[in-house]
Amino acid sequence: MKGIIFRCLEELVINTKGMDIWEQLLEAHCPEDRVYVSARSYPDEELVGLATSVAEVLNLSMPDTLKAFGTYLFGFLAKRHTSIVEEFSSFEQLIVSIDDVIHSEVKKLYDEPNLPTIEAATYDEHTIHLTYRSPRMLCFCAEGLIYGCAEHFNKNINIAHPKCMHHGDNECLLIITHS
Ligand code: HEM
Ligand SMILES: [Zn+2]
Repeated sequence: MKGIIFRCLEELVINTKGMDIWEQLLEAHCPEDRVYVSARSYPDEELVGLATSVAEVLNLSMPDTLKAFGTYLFGFLAKRHTSIVEEFSSFEQLIVSIDDVIHSEVKKLYDEPNLPTIEAATYDEHTIHLTYRSPRMLCFCAEGLIYGCAEHFNKNINIAHPKCMHHGDNECLLIITHS
């Protein structure tokens, strides 16, 4: 996982819980003197370890923690990659372009990023069907990112998650309804 993702978690934990808590989490899960550089890659297990402890500190389940993190992550990424996000004038347009435009741009900017496979298509005027596949199984983070994207466009949305890799399905299905 790229350092930019860890930097976002760092900012979120420091802002909500303070520097001491972040230092404790680093000590518990990372090699000594760990500093995250946005464009470098770090072990996925390190993120999972940190997120597990964040869940304990916040007294939330792992899915709820990843959703909250994903929601915050959208704004964080949008601030650092303004030109990519500014290409889109609506929530729906952005969501159906995640793989073909957004993550394609990410592949040009970052060295060998580990990205999910996302297929999103308009189902009807108020509904988007999105399938998510990734060996990292971060579908709850994807849900959060979509909620964060809705906040960015001032949209009210709802997400159902009727198929999930965590429940033995071979992919996750997210049904997004928006007004
Ligand atoms: C709602 C929109 C988006 C969704 C649902 C989404 C989904 C995801 C997910 C779930 C991951 C974690 C990796 C995995 O699951 O295998 C990921 C990674 C990533 N995404 Fe997105 N993403 C979105 C928008 C963006 C935007 C706007 C940017 C930046 C312009 C971005 C850049 C990245 C980067 C840099 C990574 C990390 C790659 C790595 O660690 O190697 N994403 N994305
Ligand atoms: Zn899932």
